[in-house]
Amino acid sequence: MQTDWEGWHSAYADPESALSRRLLVIQGLIGEWLDRTAPEPVRVVSVCAGDARDLLQVLRARGDAPRVSATLLEYNARNVERARAAADDLAGIEVRQVDAGQTAAYQGALPADLVLLAGVFGNISDDDVRTTIEALPGMCSAGALVIWTRHRGAPDLSGNIRGWFGTAGFVQESFTAPDDAVFSVGSHRFAGTPRPWTAEKELFSFVR
Ligand SMILES: C[S@@+](CC[C@H](N)C(=O)[O-])C[C@H]1O[C@@H](n2cnc3c(N)ncnc32)[C@H](O)[C@@H]1O
Repeated sequence: MQTDWEGWHSAYADPESALSRRLLVIQGLIGEWLDRTAPEPVRVVSVCAGDARDLLQVLRARGDAPRVSATLLEYNARNVERARAAADDLAGIEVRQVDAGQTAAYQGALPADLVLLAGVFGNISDDDVRTTIEALPGMCSAGALVIWTRHRGAPDLSGNIRGWFGTAGFVQESFTAPDDAVFSVGSHRFAGTPRPWTAEKELFSFVR
């Protein structure tokens, strides 16, 4: 990995930054999903979670965090530390320092009712994006929601991504792509039949 993935989070310090705006969209979707699933116990998997502020800030602001268990997969040691510190007083949050591109990283964490793929699809090859989407029926419970992001810099892959979700048995719930920013955030609900998770395949590797 060549990118300073801890430093990458510094753009969140500016509330006007595109990253902060993207975060608000993601957090809004997480909040809506929590409202919709209450009061049932739910399980979340965050792929390449970073410091996991998207999920953790939402949980911290709500009274029903105890019904949420989450597995946060992150490779960078400093980001793992930061996520663990942020989750310290929340029960049911496990932060794993793992390569989330390896299917073994997900053992025991699936099926998930919410899968977060924020900041992943812009950092892996198009083939790996497709492979990851095709693997999602093995990660999701029936009706699970996947929230994903992708920049729309040329070549804009967001249309292909939405098509691949459809082919994999997902129905689009939302797609946010502001005119004055390059990010997009999608949410897709799994309408197919969950598959058993098979731990022998590589999903992706970061190219940055
Ligand atoms: C673009 S950031 C996104 C972080 C967070 N999801 C967010 O949106 O704020 C990508 C994150 O993926 C992590 N990462 C990169 N390769 C990884 C891998 N193979 N397995 C797990 N995490 C990885 C980086 O350390 C970084 O924290």
